[in-house]
Amino acid sequence: MSKTGNPLDLRVWLEHIEEIGELEHCFGAHPELEIGAISQLNVKKENHKAILFDEIVGYSKGYRVLTCSTGSKKRLANILRLPSPQTHQDLIQSLRDKPAYWQSHTKEFDPVDVKQGPVLENTMVGDDVDLHHFPAVLWNEKDGGKYIGTGCSVVTKDLETDWVNVGTYRVMLHDKNKVGLMIIPGKHANIQHTKYIAAKKPFPVAIILGADPLNYLISGIEVPFEVSEFNYIGAILHQPISVVHGDLTGLPFPSAAEIVLEGWVYPGDQAPEGPFGEFLGYYTSDVSMAAVVTVEKIYFRNQPIILGSPPSKPPNDYSYSKSVMRSALLFNSIVSAGVPNVQSVWAHEIGGSRMFNVISIKQKYAGHARQAGHILSQCGVGAYMSRYSVVVDEDIDPSNLSEVMWAVATRSDPINDIDFIQRGVGSQSDPMSITQSSKAPFASKAIIDACRPFEFLNSFPQVVDVSEELENQVKTKWPDLF
Ligand SMILES: Cc1cc2nc3c(=O)[nH]c(=O)nc-3n(C[C@H](O)[C@H](O)[C@H](O)COP(=O)(O)O)c2cc1C
Repeated sequence: MSKTGNPLDLRVWLEHIEEIGELEHCFGAHPELEIGAISQLNVKKENHKAILFDEIVGYSKGYRVLTCSTGSKKRLANILRLPSPQTHQDLIQSLRDKPAYWQSHTKEFDPVDVKQGPVLENTMVGDDVDLHHFPAVLWNEKDGGKYIGTGCSVVTKDLETDWVNVGTYRVMLHDKNKVGLMIIPGKHANIQHTKYIAAKKPFPVAIILGADPLNYLISGIEVPFEVSEFNYIGAILHQPISVVHGDLTGLPFPSAAEIVLEGWVYPGDQAPEGPFGEFLGYYTSDVSMAAVVTVEKIYFRNQPIILGSPPSKPPNDYSYSKSVMRSALLFNSIVSAGVPNVQSVWAHEIGGSRMFNVISIKQKYAGHARQAGHILSQCGVGAYMSRYSVVVDEDIDPSNLSEVMWAVATRSDPINDIDFIQRGVGSQSDPMSITQSSKAPFASKAIIDACRPFEFLNSFPQVVDVSEELENQVKTKWPDLF
């Protein structure tokens, strides 16, 4: 194990994905809408690559923005330090047991303090701070402003304890030394901020605008209360990360971070923020007041790279990574709840990896399919916003929407095979919450049993398809055709 720790260097990761053909470059795009549109159209492509934007209009050459970093199985496996998978299901299988393991080992991986690191190559302090130096992007046409932080990680510290939290919260550019920070109430940094507000103290903040994507992948998931994401990342790497500490706040950040904004939210300092396109593909919230960070020092590497990760109508920049992470967690929860013969689970990107989830099982007994569907809909990881839960047989790939809907169309009898749950767990982020008379976020749910009826398993009409053996035979004989 290295004594200096892992610096979370984005450039090492970029070199690696360039080598495996997973990176492309785009020169001369405009930060107002062009970078956003290119990134959004890119993620809709099959087998898309990450894009590194350079020569961005209005900014110095070399001041770059990276998007689509987590959007393929190869890139995501590489970020999570897992073996390169052949299929989405391979990735889920190798990820399944890991979150519990990582979580139970966090204590062994306190970050290592270092005094040097690429992030210290340049600084701007006090009146010299100028955020306009760095590319901020207008991602979607109806967004309320430019955002400098999307695939970012915000470091904060508890007022009373040593707990350092690292969360992904969007960062809007206000002016040369001020940014807006939108933290949803209840998120960990919000809980910490509330204590500083009560004590009438400025809230110290360090915003990491780019690093190895593992950093933002983990700061964007629900790591438990009072566990530092930096320790969690150490557990994934099996090596602590190396951090330097900000001169003003003492907050730690990775020693190879690309750009770090250090500053304070002064008591009562708020400004209008948003609207911003959200992960389900809608503007579900309007302009609202959000905390303002006064940036008093900027640390940055030569020719720094901002990690962009804008939400929009799925599939979007980070919907694939959310699907994989949630599918792995759902798989484990359902097996732990005692459901046998689970083949695979997939939380579809089109539902923001929450609203349209599919499980495949090899049916073992009468009622098995309904049991799997209800648990998929209601288990701890799944209940929030789980609108549709679909159960299919083992011959259907749950990640293939066309196969799933074929099963729904041909193996279910709507009147018998759709169960409804009323007053389930919903969310105000659900665009359909507009129809609710109650302010409490209830939502109804459907469980669709699209398995062949258990009592007719042996007599159900046979599927017309090319067998695996025949497929291999013709593919070998006519390779050019396939
Ligand atoms: C790209 C991306 C953007 C996000 N933007 C926000 C945001 O603006 N505000 C917010 O509260 N949560 C946002 N989230 C969700 C939080 O990052 C997530 O809930 C995380 O668990 C928060 O960290 P915490 O658990 O330490 O509070 C975003 C997640 C991702 C992946």
